[in-house]
Amino acid sequence: MRFPLPVFQVLFILFLFSSNSASAQCLDNQKFSLLTLFGSAPTPSWTPRTDCCSWKGVTCDGSGHVTGLDLTNSSIKASINSTSLTTLSSLRNLNLSLNFFDSSIPVSLSSLSKLTHLNLSNSGFKGHVPFEISRIKSLESLDLSSSILGSYNSLRFSSPAFGYVVGNLSLLRELYLDSVDISSPVPESLVGLAHLTSLHLSFCNLTGQFPWKIFQLQNLETLDLSFNPLLSGSLPEFPLDSKLRILSLLNTNFHGELPGSLGYLGYLQRLQLQRCNFSGRIPLSFGLITQLVDLAISGNNLSGEISSLGNLTQLVYLDISSNSFDGEIQSLENLTELVYLDLSGNMFSGSIPSLEKLTQLVQLDLSSNCFSGRISFLSSLKNVEEIALSNNNLSSGIDSSYVEGLLNLRKLNLHNNSLNGNIPSSLFRLPSLQYLDLSQNQFYALPNEFSDVSSPLSSLDLSDNQLQGPIPRSVFQLTGLKNLILSSNNFSGTVDLSMLQNLKTLSSLDLSNNRLSINTSSTNTSFPQISQLKLSSCNLMEFPNFLRNQSISFILDLSNNKIDGEIPRWIWRGNWFLNYLNLSHNMLSGLGLPTVDLSLSGLITLDLHSNKLQGSMPIPPPNILILDYSQNYFTDVIPANIFPYLSYGVFFSLAGNNITGEIPSSICNASFLEVLDLSNNNLRGSIPHCLGELNNLKVLNLGKNDLHGVIPQSFGYGCILKTLNLNRNHLEGSLPKSLANCKQLEVLNIGNNWINDSFPLWLGTLQQLRVLILRSNMFHGPIQQIRRSKCFLTVAYNRFLF
Ligand SMILES: *[C@@H]1O[C@H](CO)[C@@H](O)[C@H](O)[C@H]1NC(C)=O
Ligand SMILES: *[C@@H]1O[C@H](CO)[C@@H](O)[C@H](O)[C@H]1NC(C)=O
Ligand SMILES: *[C@@H]1O[C@H](CO)[C@@H](O)[C@H](O)[C@H]1NC(C)=O
Ligand SMILES: *[C@@H]1O[C@H](CO)[C@@H](O)[C@H](O)[C@H]1NC(C)=O
Ligand SMILES: *[C@@H]1O[C@H](CO)[C@@H](O)[C@H](O)[C@H]1NC(C)=O
Ligand SMILES: *[C@@H]1O[C@H](CO)[C@@H](O)[C@H](O)[C@H]1NC(C)=O
Ligand SMILES: *[C@@H]1O[C@H](CO)[C@@H](O)[C@H](O)[C@H]1NC(C)=O
Ligand SMILES: *[C@@H]1O[C@H](CO)[C@@H](O)[C@H](O)[C@H]1NC(C)=O
Ligand SMILES: *[C@@H]1O[C@H](CO)[C@@H](O)[C@H](O)[C@H]1NC(C)=O
Ligand SMILES: *[C@@H]1O[C@H](CO)[C@@H](O)[C@H](O)[C@H]1NC(C)=O
Ligand SMILES: *[C@@H]1O[C@H](CO)[C@@H](O)[C@H](O)[C@H]1NC(C)=O
Ligand SMILES: *[C@@H]1O[C@H](CO)[C@@H](O)[C@H](O)[C@H]1NC(C)=O
Repeated sequence: MRFPLPVFQVLFILFLFSSNSASAQCLDNQKFSLLTLFGSAPTPSWTPRTDCCSWKGVTCDGSGHVTGLDLTNSSIKASINSTSLTTLSSLRNLNLSLNFFDSSIPVSLSSLSKLTHLNLSNSGFKGHVPFEISRIKSLESLDLSSSILGSYNSLRFSSPAFGYVVGNLSLLRELYLDSVDISSPVPESLVGLAHLTSLHLSFCNLTGQFPWKIFQLQNLETLDLSFNPLLSGSLPEFPLDSKLRILSLLNTNFHGELPGSLGYLGYLQRLQLQRCNFSGRIPLSFGLITQLVDLAISGNNLSGEISSLGNLTQLVYLDISSNSFDGEIQSLENLTELVYLDLSGNMFSGSIPSLEKLTQLVQLDLSSNCFSGRISFLSSLKNVEEIALSNNNLSSGIDSSYVEGLLNLRKLNLHNNSLNGNIPSSLFRLPSLQYLDLSQNQFYALPNEFSDVSSPLSSLDLSDNQLQGPIPRSVFQLTGLKNLILSSNNFSGTVDLSMLQNLKTLSSLDLSNNRLSINTSSTNTSFPQISQLKLSSCNLMEFPNFLRNQSISFILDLSNNKIDGEIPRWIWRGNWFLNYLNLSHNMLSGLGLPTVDLSLSGLITLDLHSNKLQGSMPIPPPNILILDYSQNYFTDVIPANIFPYLSYGVFFSLAGNNITGEIPSSICNASFLEVLDLSNNNLRGSIPHCLGELNNLKVLNLGKNDLHGVIPQSFGYGCILKTLNLNRNHLEGSLPKSLANCKQLEVLNIGNNWINDSFPLWLGTLQQLRVLILRSNMFHGPIQQIRRSKCFLTVAYNRFLF
């Protein structure tokens, strides 16, 4: 039935009338205070001629006083007029969150004695939280948090103020202080907040011991202490009637064992204990927390059986990675709600449990365990997007049917297993697959042709397998590829690099260590800009010409080829950010220097060893870490100013050249050096004594030179030398007793010198010593046995008494 029009109008008017009478018109002083509160109206609805109780965000009581003000996300930039604020003394709820106040929190807030809810989250307030807030005894909910995770909000508590302010607000139920800089311990006074249901203190730089009684607060439902790495403590026993629903200690320094009473937490839905320092066996009582939805305990040192987890049928998110769990996993079949499952980085063994019923699974990570057996279970994971099974011992092949239905699969990582057989072409037809890593397995064949569709593959790593035959053309038709890694297989035939010109986004290419012949002559300027190019052992006869046009390469490896002649000068030019260059094992005869200056180069690793390079050794690039000039025909001396150039040097070898002159003592300033190899040259003079003081040196090889004088005497207490080789020089004097400081010494070779000493029995204190060569010196006196079954010792051609 239809109402006649007049009846409808009457009803409408009645409705208007009744809605007006529910709250009185707002009082003039309240309206005036609101209008002057921020200088200007925060929203267009705040117009002087209308009732302020109808304004957006405003709530009034029956007598026209403003009781609520919610101006969340209103783009307010002004500061607050304290006089006006004080007039709004009936306010119970004040929410100024998500605004841009650029001042400290006004002290006048403390005059709002009826306030129960104060929300200043993400509101831009800075500086100290005024302690006067503690006067608002009625506060039940206080939110000063900021969601700018990881960087402390500019709000902070001065040291004792936190306990003083908060401890006095005895009616508090909710306290949100995430990202407020507290930088002090949590005060005991919080234990007095009996009504507390939610306590959020993440990113507060809390320090010291957490008062454990807080865990036992009767009404506590949520406790978030995450991201306070200086906060320590342990978990106490929980009371039977605990109401805890959410507990997050992520990235704190909580330690000790998990209490058995965790099983009492019948309401617990989320338990986040990642990256703490918990240890010991996981309590069996976990099987009783059947309401758990989110369990994340990765990055601790927990161990034991996880069979009790099989009971947690509500779990959606399960991450127990990077712990010490072991054994075989019986069954996860009842965890049918799981969306995320991460068991990586443990010591699980046996075959992978049935995952058939986990049809919701989106991410699966079982990598870095000792799982063995087949991977046929893949076929049941219809919704899965990411699978990581790397670093296990899975065997057998990948059948086409295992992967065909995985329409959502984006990432598949099977690196480092024992998988074998053919790589099925169906993998390349998966409509979502972007990342495929099958490296370090025993696959022996790729399908001939497979890419008839537009596969979204962007990263393909098939390195370290036994793939043979020519690289199928289809690989070069995967036009979305960014990374293509095919190294260390048995691929054969000729690859014309111009075939890669279609791969416009290619940024990393590795074809090294196959039986390929790479032809680069027909590449042209349209070759993609590659940041990482590795063509080691590719039968290259010359530098690929397209490299001239590269501007972003970081890593270039052309080692083990047949390139001869001069290194082209553009290799050294400063503007292509090269920081790794390996040209070792070629037949290069010149550096393209001296017109180009290595002091502008950003190289961090430069490996030129085993070539035919001549002339003086080039001055090292200034930031070099690893520098290998060995096995060349370099002559002349080591420059006296070698030091500032080896400031960061870790590895330096000039071995097997024809370097003359003395070892400059400035080399002792290269304090990061771990390996110094100057052997097989014509170095003269004495060994700089300061070499014994290079604290990081592990290998010092000066063998086969023409060095005179005595061995450095001053090996310090921090000595970590493992190898000291001074063989075939003309060193005299005695063996320095300070060598006994080098506790890690494994090889000591001072054969073929003129050392005049008695048998160094004191070397017996060096537990790691495996090789001791004293032959052909002037040792004398009785020879004694160093009691070490595994030590190789030669002493011939001395004057020992037997
Ligand atoms: C805040 O308001 C802007 C529009 O003014 C909107 O785009 C944004 O999503 C809001 N932010 C939140 C957290 O509500
Ligand atoms: C603050 O508000 C009061 C009225 O509450 C008004 O008289 C005064 O002018 C305002 N001050 C500023 C700086 O706007
Ligand atoms: C504070 O306001 C924000 C909206 O900006 C809201 O998301 C948050 O839940 C509020 N805090 C409390 C404790 O209610
Ligand atoms: C503002 O904060 C209060 C609690 O202080 C909260 O109840 C309310 O939902 C928040 N407003 C918005 C829009 O989130
Ligand atoms: C706050 O509590 C402390 C004791 O914890 C007390 O000494 C102090 O007087 C209280 N301050 C206020 C303002 O109530
Ligand atoms: C955290 O607090 C400690 C102790 O108060 C302080 O030394 C440290 O500088 C603080 N760290 C940050 C990032 O504020
Ligand atoms: C972790 O706990 C162990 C003892 O359980 C302790 O020795 C170790 O120092 C702790 N690690 C850190 C980083 O606190
Ligand atoms: C599994 O949960 C049930 C309660 O739902 C409980 O009775 C049983 O003991 C639990 N089993 C284990 C192994 O914890
Ligand atoms: C982990 O715990 C085991 C005992 O369960 C202990 O032997 C081992 O040293 C711990 N590892 C670390 C890194 O603390
Ligand atoms: C899975 O649940 C069924 C039915 O509740 C039960 O019979 C079976 O023992 C459970 N399996 C495991 C491994 O807990
Ligand atoms: C890997 O599995 C094979 C059998 O498939 C076994 O022979 C081998 O010992 C396993 N390797 C390791 C390291 O467990
Ligand atoms: C090393 O250089 C010297 C001249 O400094 C030269 O006489 C000698 O033949 C060179 N040795 C080799 C192996 O090139």
